[in-house]
Amino acid sequence: MGSKQRLLPWLHETFSKLDFDTALDGFSGSGCVAYLLKSMGVQVTTNDFLNFTATLARALIENAETVVSEVELEGLLEDRADRDDFVERTFRGIFYTPEDLRFLDRVWSNLGALSSPYARDLALSALLRACVKRQPRGVFTVAGDPERYKDGRRDLRLSLEEHFREQVAVYRDSVFDNGRRNRALHGDVFSVPPVGFDLVYLDPPYVPRADDNCYVKRYHFLEGLSCYWQGVEILHESKVRKLAKPYTPFSYRKGALEAFERLFDRFRRSTLVLSYSSNGYPELDALVAAMERVKARVEVHQRPHRYHFGTHGAVKRSAVQEYLIVGR
Ligand SMILES: C[S@@+](CC[C@H](N)C(=O)[O-])C[C@H]1O[C@@H](n2cnc3c(N)ncnc32)[C@H](O)[C@@H]1O
Repeated sequence: MGSKQRLLPWLHETFSKLDFDTALDGFSGSGCVAYLLKSMGVQVTTNDFLNFTATLARALIENAETVVSEVELEGLLEDRADRDDFVERTFRGIFYTPEDLRFLDRVWSNLGALSSPYARDLALSALLRACVKRQPRGVFTVAGDPERYKDGRRDLRLSLEEHFREQVAVYRDSVFDNGRRNRALHGDVFSVPPVGFDLVYLDPPYVPRADDNCYVKRYHFLEGLSCYWQGVEILHESKVRKLAKPYTPFSYRKGALEAFERLFDRFRRSTLVLSYSSNGYPELDALVAAMERVKARVEVHQRPHRYHFGTHGAVKRSAVQEYLIVGR
């Protein structure tokens, strides 16, 4: 949700016109913008306050050479007699088939045996991606048994194990070294030291129009899976076993503008690039005015865009104007 993947060529065009050698992606999400920046040869730092997104960034942005070998992959698939069955017990009848759930317990029981922390991040990233592909519409807001969808879609037909094998290979092909020391941070954007970045890219969440743009609400299963639900609070009264959501000021009308002002002020020493869209709040003018307080030259680039997002009923598309607000 909110991924800039389809806007990457446009972002690339804009970034190419700016002069920078070091960059921060302050709200890295899927990591696709950071991956673009890494491929442009700059030194990249990512940050996100969710654990699963930080895991994705460590696997592909910070990691330069580690991959999960075929031997390691087979090790991850071994069934150990002493393994935990937490996923199977907790999500039975909610998501996936019993076999899929057992598979997740199985892989987790073998992760510790991997030789390097990056191999673990990569294995987890492949597991996360397998889960998204296998889940109807890729979100975890309603209980969904993939077997219900008999329309032959390949992603719903393959088991989690089959997806996982494919994704391990996809990740193996995606790791690369851009010759720089890149880093992936996991925390609140306001705790990132604001120095050492020529450019800071900001893509915070929007204030929701309805109660459906909370990342944790949609992706709680991925967040839990990324730490085997250790140290997180499961809301047991929720049918889909949601997690308590972390607070972010960007998601509330009251406080969002002030949060943007603080954000711009914090990173005022860097060129600022803010992604924003016409269905967001605060209004564009208010954001431009806030950036003009700390930047001498502020330009707005604009293009039409359609976001695709799943809901309970169907996949919806919303047409918006997508903005890049650049402050120098
Ligand atoms: C719109 S998404 C970013 C999407 C990303 N650019 C992409 O293309 O995939 C916003 C991200 O901000 C993160 N986030 C929200 N509040 C945050 C905060 N206060 N500090 C750090 N990350 C935060 C969310 O976890 C989410 O991944």
